[in-house]
Amino acid sequence: MNRRYRKTIIAGNWKMNKTASETKKFAEELKAVMPKAKWCEVVVCVPAVNIQTAIKAFKDMRVSVGAENLFYEKSGAYTGEVSGDMLKDLGVKYVIIGHSERRQYFGETDVTVNKKVHAALEAGLHPIICVGESLEQREMGITMELVALQVKAALSGVSAEKVRKCVIAYEPVWAIGTGKTATAEQAAEVCTLIRTTIRHLYGARIARSVTIQYGGSMKPANAAELLAQPDIDGGLIGGAALKSGEFVDIINAANQE
Ligand code: PGA
Repeated sequence: MNRRYRKTIIAGNWKMNKTASETKKFAEELKAVMPKAKWCEVVVCVPAVNIQTAIKAFKDMRVSVGAENLFYEKSGAYTGEVSGDMLKDLGVKYVIIGHSERRQYFGETDVTVNKKVHAALEAGLHPIICVGESLEQREMGITMELVALQVKAALSGVSAEKVRKCVIAYEPVWAIGTGKTATAEQAAEVCTLIRTTIRHLYGARIARSVTIQYGGSMKPANAAELLAQPDIDGGLIGGAALKSGEFVDIINAANQE
């Protein structure tokens, strides 16, 4: 991380876990162990139905609430979908876009990811844009080209002013929920490539201001080493973010002065 130029962000991605009552309980547990001063921003991205509960429960803890998805249209006949304005109106700050599970199970593509990035920015939300290669793609040796392409597609048509509001999360698909973490070197190599890609598109000043997270089995045991890499400015954390004790240990790893 490099706090001089950009924010460090530790974000939990709850996926389809926790009811509203469990959300309240988690907030109480976290409050009891949360460090007073924080050098990083803490975010919890929760299922859409838990957003209101989460906003209330985390309000006095300086924990921002994020959504896990949105639809790219502003309103209309899209049964079951949620718009950026609806999220913003509730007090949501961040929204995860293009998570590999959405690409894998819900047909999201680089094109829909780009539309959602525009919709989020238009609504005044900060998109957390997920990119990353599968195991097959890594073994084929195309990780760098693929991730650069995903970043370029996601940011297509996004202005320099708006790209500063975006967070990129590098999440190698083979490391998500598998217990297999990318080594700090593997993660750093791709996160540096992401910053280089942004530099080519928007210039050095903008590139150094963008927060780039690592995600994929980040846990207390490996967080400090990953966060010590200059181009890794935080984490997007699934499993370990569901337990207040583990989540706070990761926050503490990002909180070193
Ligand atoms: P994991 O999930 O930490 O459980 O691997 C990360 C993510 O999918 O964002």
